[in-house]
Amino acid sequence: MIKINKTNCVLGINVSHNASASLMHKGEILICLQEERLTNKKNFFGYPKKSIDYCINFAKKKSFKIDKAVFTTQKLPIFNLKYPVSHYFTIKDFHDYFGDKYFGKKIKKLSIKNYINKLKKDKRNSQDLYLPLKKVSEKYDFDFKKNRQLQADFLFKQSKGNIKNIKFYDHHSCHVAYAYFSAKKRLKDSAIITLDSEGDGLNQTVWIVDKRKKIRKVSESSQCDIARAYKLTTLLLKMKPDEHEYKVMGLAPYAKNKYSVNVYEKVYKNLLQVKDTKIIHKLRPKDLYKHLIDNTTGERFDNIAGGVQIFVEELVKKLFLNIYKKYKVKNFYLSGGVSMNIKMNKIIKDLPFVKNLIVQPSGGDESLSMGGCFLESGFNSKPLNNIYLGRDLFDDFSEKKFLNYIKRKKNLKIKSNYSHKNIANLLSKGNVVAVARGREEFGARALGNRSILADPSNIKIVQKINEQIKNRDFWMPFALSILKEKHKKFLKNKKNISSEYMTIGYDTIENKHNLIEAGTHRYDKSVRPQILEKNANKNYHKLIVEFYKKKKIPALLNTSLNLHGYPIASTIKEVLNTFQNSGLKFLYVNDKFLVEKKNEK
Ligand SMILES: [Fe+2]
Repeated sequence: MIKINKTNCVLGINVSHNASASLMHKGEILICLQEERLTNKKNFFGYPKKSIDYCINFAKKKSFKIDKAVFTTQKLPIFNLKYPVSHYFTIKDFHDYFGDKYFGKKIKKLSIKNYINKLKKDKRNSQDLYLPLKKVSEKYDFDFKKNRQLQADFLFKQSKGNIKNIKFYDHHSCHVAYAYFSAKKRLKDSAIITLDSEGDGLNQTVWIVDKRKKIRKVSESSQCDIARAYKLTTLLLKMKPDEHEYKVMGLAPYAKNKYSVNVYEKVYKNLLQVKDTKIIHKLRPKDLYKHLIDNTTGERFDNIAGGVQIFVEELVKKLFLNIYKKYKVKNFYLSGGVSMNIKMNKIIKDLPFVKNLIVQPSGGDESLSMGGCFLESGFNSKPLNNIYLGRDLFDDFSEKKFLNYIKRKKNLKIKSNYSHKNIANLLSKGNVVAVARGREEFGARALGNRSILADPSNIKIVQKINEQIKNRDFWMPFALSILKEKHKKFLKNKKNISSEYMTIGYDTIENKHNLIEAGTHRYDKSVRPQILEKNANKNYHKLIVEFYKKKKIPALLNTSLNLHGYPIASTIKEVLNTFQNSGLKFLYVNDKFLVEKKNEK
């Protein structure tokens, strides 16, 4: 059961994959910052010191006293922090790790001493991880209590002794609180489902919100290995686990269904099963890595991607059906890393018994810091109105400095008071425009404040963007921002299910598809939309309205403003760095300045 406190100011902290910190004041999330944006290390793993500093300084400036800090995982091994392998491992290293050098040996109960010694000496593990991890003896590597103490002591010192009330909350409870309380609709008679790789010993939970809006956990599983199977499949397809799963999802539709089904039945189908409202082991072998490697040998890469995607969809469909049958609920909330599978979410949305599906942005562990705050305040909290919760564009660099910088650069020129109408004009003529305005978005998706925009009816633009900056894998689609008031003319959405944050896939309407083609999946013609309400981002909305006036298309292709392999650009410093190190020609800053590169095609 979720208890509710009346804490005035809460600091939420996620120490793990994609570390983040959030500040909630009087029930409202004021900041959610991902450490990757401050370290320029994508999906930063560890203690989010800089993000915490940012929240503490913000609270100080506003004279808020932080009453409580909540960490959002109780059982985090020190080992994972000592060796944040995602920071420096190559694909080959990951094969060794999941294969016969580490996990393979562990499964066979053989000594892993040599491997650990190698990890210890690995000079590539050079990221500043803040906590005094190197001083911790090996015997505490899996001592959760010791780790909690380490984190609490560090925070106490970091806050100069001001934060005394420090709690550690359960991982999946934080996912649940984020899923439900951050949403604009807090519906009764609902189910909240969490699905992730692992947190506090679990990887799946189901919670029911009853008629009186009491929330209780009704089932949990530690055997729901869908994320693990997906992660290992990402690796065997030569992509980075815990980062490139979305590429496997993007690849899946290219496979012919019968071949995908064949791989699914041969390799994945018998691994797991749904019993009641739990996903549990069926014939899952101990060494899942070996099973996947051995049994996918000889299969084509796209069919493997198709097979693992069917595996996830079939299990989750059955899980939702069982929840519906048992609890008679038609409203569903979903969170945890697996909730970022927008193709799976599309399938759930289209199930006949589903009335509402609510998937809040970036439901992976990066959202846990908000989840911790929401768990603390429950119904006393306010839903998120938008997710522009990061740093302001001019946070550490004044507008004057920016103008001087442009003046000094011989390859740049600038125009002031450049209107949305003018930008719409540029876009309609086949130009790609980077936009940076106001506060940055929380999460994995750019939603108009750190974005690269283009005309979605111009399919040739895809190649142009890829050549200018993205170097994107050739099969990956771009996303679409579309005006809410007009989206139903282009997207099939009979149930009126909202996707404000690009979290759910939709089918496009056949005779309109060509007008938004460059923002859709090339093969299955589906789309991952940001269905944009005016109040969510007035300036972005205005820009799309101007584009609509020109081309009768109420949408823009939208992709994140970042260099390949780096996090989304955060402040104007990173934005200019990204702009200068790419082939982008136009940059629109704070709905006012147009920066243009001279002599660039
Ligand atoms: Fe998680």
